[in-house]
Amino acid sequence: MSVVSILGAQWGDEGKGKIVDILCEDIDCVARFQGGANAGHTILINGEETILHQLPSGVMRENIKCVLGNGMVIDPVALLDEIKMVESKGLKIRNRLSISSLANVVTPLHKALDTSNETSLGEMAIGTTKKGIGPCYADKISRNGFLFKDLNNLADIKKSLEEKTENSINRKYIKESDKKLLKDQYNEFYKACEILRDYTTDTISMLNEMIKQNSKILVEGAQGSLLDIDFGTYPFVTSSNTTAGNISTGLGIGPTKIDKVLGVVKAYLTRVGAGPFPTELNDNDGQKLQKTGFEIGATTGRQRRCGWFDAVLGKYSSQINGFTSIIITKLDVLDEFDEIKICTKYKNGKFPDINLKDAEPEYIILPGWKSSICNIRDFDKLPENAKKYLATLENLLDVRISHISVGKGREQIITR
Ligand code: GDP
Ligand code: IMO
Ligand code: MG
Repeated sequence: MSVVSILGAQWGDEGKGKIVDILCEDIDCVARFQGGANAGHTILINGEETILHQLPSGVMRENIKCVLGNGMVIDPVALLDEIKMVESKGLKIRNRLSISSLANVVTPLHKALDTSNETSLGEMAIGTTKKGIGPCYADKISRNGFLFKDLNNLADIKKSLEEKTENSINRKYIKESDKKLLKDQYNEFYKACEILRDYTTDTISMLNEMIKQNSKILVEGAQGSLLDIDFGTYPFVTSSNTTAGNISTGLGIGPTKIDKVLGVVKAYLTRVGAGPFPTELNDNDGQKLQKTGFEIGATTGRQRRCGWFDAVLGKYSSQINGFTSIIITKLDVLDEFDEIKICTKYKNGKFPDINLKDAEPEYIILPGWKSSICNIRDFDKLPENAKKYLATLENLLDVRISHISVGKGREQIITR
């Protein structure tokens, strides 16, 4: 097996960071193919928590190469901060990080536009992370962006960015008063660009050569399938394809080279930001999930909305990604529930045709197991009701569960 991918199957924050960190132990390279600093991937090693945004989670193991693929939108200022943060933990990065020359650059203007777009949407705001993701992908699609290889002509970028800033002010996309702040941010931005252009390379040849040599590559998804620009709960989505079909486009490796697609699935459901959520719980159970699961956004610090597992969306996600198996995370968060519900259908229509904000979930109720599973490492030792819950998910999603995560730590995983 040469290329294995790990993708979020829900609205993000499924625990991808933790799973990538575990599964990359004997891997040569970890690559990101989409998204940017909107991601927040948490890893707990020896009791110390690290949150990664743009660096792949493989960066926490010294011998692993890290690739930021052409499909990403990369913020140089934030990336430089992140490199410093990881290096401060004693890990060296310089010789093992490669940024695709074709990746798009997120500028301070993109971030200002993200913020002002959100403000102008008022009650219809998406609840973005304000990391400039949407405006940067918009520039990419309208053929108006900067690529990492363009950083070799920084003078041209400076000129173009000045024009774009004036244009955005004239069109009232941003305020005249934003100009002073942006000017300061541009200085920092250009400094970061000068440093990071040395990390730029042809990652496409690099990855394909690695595949030829039978090196092991792990592909790390960001966000989740329900935030996919095509398949997600549009318009409350992110601006990239987060699903398996984009791995090839975002890295430049052919679909025939991808051996496994693993889905990371939280044992219940969360969402951060606005948008429909049929199984959302605005009651004690919802609060219990939020508190027990520490459901707080790793990038924005916002409380995540919580609800029961939605198997309609889960099955859909499994289909569009063609998962070879799934990994259930945070099963331990359900330890103290008397009863656990799973939505198996919508009473009034089928997804994706139904408008999700109108969907009325129909539930089945399963008994809880009422005991702590965080120290269990052997599938057979799980309580019968936990096994029943997992078997029900497996049946509803029509895909095998290969791993179960029972806590934040590296060691808290059950492999089947
Ligand atoms: P990601 O964006 O998919 O990488 O997920 P986040 O890091 O944003 O959020 C997942 C959160 O759940 C993090 O705080 C993890 O430390 C935590 N976590 C991951 N797996 C488990 C698990 O099995 N049990 C519990 N209790 N927490 C987990
Ligand atoms: P990870 O990789 C959860 C959500 C935002 C918002 C929508 C659009 O940690 O799972 P954007 O800034 O991308 O334009 O915001 O997408 N969102 C995430 N939610 N986890 C993430 O990443 C997310 N990245 C973006 O909250 O609703
Ligand atoms: Mg996250």
